[in-house]
Amino acid sequence: MAPPPWYPAPALSGAGYSAAELAESCDRVFLLDQRDLPAREVYVTLRSVEDVAEAIRAMVVRGAPAIGIAAAYGMVLAARALRPAVAERYVAGLRAAASMLVAARPTAVNLSWAVSRMLTSAEAHASDAAEVRVAELAALARRIHVEDREACRRMGRIGAARIPDGATILTHCNAGALATGGYGTALGVIRAAAEAGKRVRVLADETRPYLQGARLTAWELAQDGIPVEVITDSMAGYFLRRREVTAIVVGADRIARNGDIANKIGTYGLACLAKHHGVPFYVAAPWSTVDLATLDGDHIPLEERSRDEVVRVGGAVLVPEGVPARHPAFDVTPAELITAIFTERGEFAAGEIARAGEASGV
Ligand code: MRU
Repeated sequence: MAPPPWYPAPALSGAGYSAAELAESCDRVFLLDQRDLPAREVYVTLRSVEDVAEAIRAMVVRGAPAIGIAAAYGMVLAARALRPAVAERYVAGLRAAASMLVAARPTAVNLSWAVSRMLTSAEAHASDAAEVRVAELAALARRIHVEDREACRRMGRIGAARIPDGATILTHCNAGALATGGYGTALGVIRAAAEAGKRVRVLADETRPYLQGARLTAWELAQDGIPVEVITDSMAGYFLRRREVTAIVVGADRIARNGDIANKIGTYGLACLAKHHGVPFYVAAPWSTVDLATLDGDHIPLEERSRDEVVRVGGAVLVPEGVPARHPAFDVTPAELITAIFTERGEFAAGEIARAGEASGV
């Protein structure tokens, strides 16, 4: 296999693969094309912020923290393209780039969080020399990446304390290294439990229609040697009723002020099943996923994607021509169904999130 495009520099993900990396020279962004996994491990090279926005929309990169990191790197490309611009035009150009990136996917708040951090820094350095402006933004984008990876490691250790030896963890979608700066949120908890010497096994929901569980979660865990079995989404109830699931651990795309969370479609159903069967339902997410400005789950914008993605599997069309299909990409799980939220700042009851944020001034 060809070496990854950032070689010989190490990936900021801390692994042999990475969802997003910025070239040393700041002129290219490399994204692992997650649509092709596990069949092919291919990195696409992007040279403009427009291309990064399109890649986010098209799911080349996905997962809340990872799209924030990719967008931050996209802002560096935008700053580079604006090298000749005077301060005012530079700021206007970066604001336009920021709006384009944020519009690519509406639900994950990490996207707007990362982009607005980048914009604030760009505004502060607008009057500096062009090279300094680019270097400042590149340093911040890389910091956002590394901070997320470290947050995952920390929340992983915090969450792992709740995972007993011998546990079977059910997870949904992919909340792993591919969805983050590295290590993962829900998969970070599982990895940390395994690293602590606990025997853990995983049931990975396939997660229709993009099959992030079947393709990506299984790919990551198999490489780590953590036992994983893929199940179809409709099998979760069967395994819960048979008492084969110790806990459910998922990621989140946004955590509202009251502790409601948005995550991949199907998460709400799992939380209801967990409640019914008395199984703990945990959410793992970095603090950048917390959005105290959004009051509750009803106010979270939920992306609806195209019919086409539902009616096809691989190349095959499964639904009769002309029959409509629906594709909400996310759903909301109310706070009362969540046993605990693991973040890098600690473990919280969902209803405590606002108080925890205000106590720390965020
Ligand atoms: O549509 P996706 O693949 O971007 O959805 C991803 C999820 O729902 C993840 O669970 C969430 O972003 C958390 S990733 C650490």
